[in-house]
Amino acid sequence: MRLIDTHVHLNFDSFQPDLDEVAQNWREAGIVRLVHSCVEPAEFEAIQSIADRFPEVSFAVGLHPLDVEEKWQTDTAQVILALAQSDSRVVAIGETGLDFFKAKNQEQQQEAFWAQLEIAHQLNLPVIIHCRDAAAPMAGLVKRFWAEQGQVQGVMHCWSGTPEETQQFLDLGFYISFSGIVTFKNAVSVQESAKLVPSDRLLVETDCPFLAPVPKRGERRNQPAYVRFVAEQLAHLRGISPSDLAAQTTENACNLFGLSLPEADGSLPTESFYSG
Ligand code: NI
Repeated sequence: MRLIDTHVHLNFDSFQPDLDEVAQNWREAGIVRLVHSCVEPAEFEAIQSIADRFPEVSFAVGLHPLDVEEKWQTDTAQVILALAQSDSRVVAIGETGLDFFKAKNQEQQQEAFWAQLEIAHQLNLPVIIHCRDAAAPMAGLVKRFWAEQGQVQGVMHCWSGTPEETQQFLDLGFYISFSGIVTFKNAVSVQESAKLVPSDRLLVETDCPFLAPVPKRGERRNQPAYVRFVAEQLAHLRGISPSDLAAQTTENACNLFGLSLPEADGSLPTESFYSG
């Protein structure tokens, strides 16, 4: 079984003491690729060094909606664009999006999200979208962008929306990525959403170090190896085998992010993997 964890934050403090061991765990669990998210451009160098150490890591660059208030400046879009063009291992723009839970800067968040959609469009890269308490304005903004500038590929990451919201974003062409939330007993509506996503639009992620899935929920820190528990829960909900679920989601992640898989002998990726 080969899996791709499409959303990790390995640069966070909690991983620094034992990242080699964490990597050994994900390799033993069959995680063959990881997409490292980015909450602000200042993280870029640290993320690059992680990808230097672990060649199966590709990454994104962007500004998280919760960091917009403090960090969105007149030149931020330029900085993100330049960083995205500076390294062929960049496979997405993000994470970006809207987080209206307690937000007082809704206008500004929409401006920053729009600008990052423009970068993704210009570079023909997908966007990694964070959306909290903002499904309707998000869908409206995306529709307006499609009409004015054209479509951008993307993923609704760490998805926790209702079936209706899920359908709305599927209709806009997005992939839907589920995290450990889908393993929580009380996440009934998310589990319903997980059943309706077409098999060619489904992704899995940990969003580690956050949101450890059942049965690891008691651990303070989530890690990429645990994406298999997300995959197993999705397989269970959809009535298919975990290996079929893994094959589908891995193929989808390759399609969305332009990743290639390592040879079956497990050899590590070489520079040429990133050229596509
Ligand atoms: Ni994230």
